[in-house]
Amino acid sequence: MAQEMAQEGESAYQSPPGTVLLRISRYNPEHDEAPGFAEFTVPYEKWTTVLDAILEVKKHLDHSVAVRYSCRQATCGSCGMMINGRPRLACFTKISELDSETITVEPMSNFPVIRDLAVKFDRLFDAHRSIKPYLVREDTETESSTSSLQTA
Ligand code: FES
Repeated sequence: MAQEMAQEGESAYQSPPGTVLLRISRYNPEHDEAPGFAEFTVPYEKWTTVLDAILEVKKHLDHSVAVRYSCRQATCGSCGMMINGRPRLACFTKISELDSETITVEPMSNFPVIRDLAVKFDRLFDAHRSIKPYLVREDTETESSTSSLQTA
């Protein structure tokens, strides 16, 4: 029984290893006249995300690729980029789901580029600050050393 379950488990997680051509937009506005692409052949498995593939490039092929990410769980939005022409989260997008032998990654088109895939979020953070998307207590205890209790 245990062996059966192990075999089922193995087949559930078995993924077809392969390679994909990853085309990464390269652009440094301080030095380059126009964006170009660098191409890398990257191994992937069933659960490999586009962010995993980019980090594979950074780790083994070209450490100078600039990319922004934080949570790696589709929460913060910082890995947003154009993937095969559509805005997506790189940490959430699996290569196997794109059904393409070539993956093209470019920075979000509505933000200024810092370098490669990293964009400036100043405008976004300014808007975020202006709407104060959090609760502000009327009886602030900023000087207090006591904890603020929460209720559900
Ligand atoms: S790294 Fe946070 S959403 Fe992708």
